[in-house]
Amino acid sequence: MRTVAFGATGIELPVVGLGTWQVFDLPPAGEEVAARVVEVAFAEGVRAVDSSPMYGRAEAVLGRALGTRRADAFVATKIWTSSPDEARRQLDGQLGFYGGRVELEQIHNLVAWREHLPWLEEERVAGRIGLVGATHYSPSAFGELEEVMRTGRIDAIQVPLNPHERECERRILPLAEELGLGVVVMRPLGEGSLLPGPDARLLEPLGGLTWPQALLAWALSDGRVHVVIPATSNPAHARENAAAADHAPLDEDERRLVERLVLPS
Ligand SMILES: NC(=O)c1ccc[n+]([C@@H]2O[C@H](COP(=O)([O-])OP(=O)(O)OC[C@H]3O[C@@H](n4cnc5c(N)ncnc54)[C@H](OP(=O)(O)O)[C@@H]3O)[C@@H](O)[C@H]2O)c1
Repeated sequence: MRTVAFGATGIELPVVGLGTWQVFDLPPAGEEVAARVVEVAFAEGVRAVDSSPMYGRAEAVLGRALGTRRADAFVATKIWTSSPDEARRQLDGQLGFYGGRVELEQIHNLVAWREHLPWLEEERVAGRIGLVGATHYSPSAFGELEEVMRTGRIDAIQVPLNPHERECERRILPLAEELGLGVVVMRPLGEGSLLPGPDARLLEPLGGLTWPQALLAWALSDGRVHVVIPATSNPAHARENAAAADHAPLDEDERRLVERLVLPS
């Protein structure tokens, strides 16, 4: 799979990753699905996986699904609490799920970011965390996200980007590029709202891309974006999504076509 320099972090990452919101919040009897999705995704070259304590059982399910592939994975997860004690518990739990290390620890929805940054920086120095990041799903919080980015204390951000959610293009992506931050894109398929998409005949100018692949390629063809993390509970979808990276980045005409094909929500 095509790889990219993850901002100025010195890390090279395959451009398609795997999200776990909703789809990995599985009971023990259903966990086999997650294992299969991870197996197929990793066979296709996926390495970046994303979770959060907000996603129910997903973090633990992901850890078990990774199994022996853990060493090859780039685990991104989150701290999501305003309580310092609970935050430590969340990290401890994650270190248990992921073999003693989290590659990217993100402050979820910027919750208590001023309180969390100092101890996350200590954990980064200690090596239990590789990189520190911040996420938000809402443009109403992008002003605050900019503030966090400008502290110079984070390595990466995670924001939504798809043809219906483009607010990050205005200030967040230019600032991320200027600061050399890694950029992870959540909701590349609009949480599924942009699917199933147009008739395949309309996609012919896109050289064989399916509609989900076209949306992933659309986000990845913004040079300021590094990794997209589509979530799926379906191994065939995981394979399809990973294959989006085999396609060359879309040119301007192809990007405009994808935007025109996005149906009004
Ligand atoms: N949404 C948020 O607010 C948010 C916030 C912070 C972080 N994140 C992170 O970003 C990740 C991705 O965002 P997201 O999960 O919200 O939405 P998304 O990845 O844009 O969409 C996921 C949906 O698309 C479907 N899908 C995936 N691949 C498909 C394919 N090839 N063909 C048809 N359907 C396909 C999935 O259903 P199937 O299971 O049927 O494939 C699922 O319902 C999250 O999982 C999470 O790790 C999200």
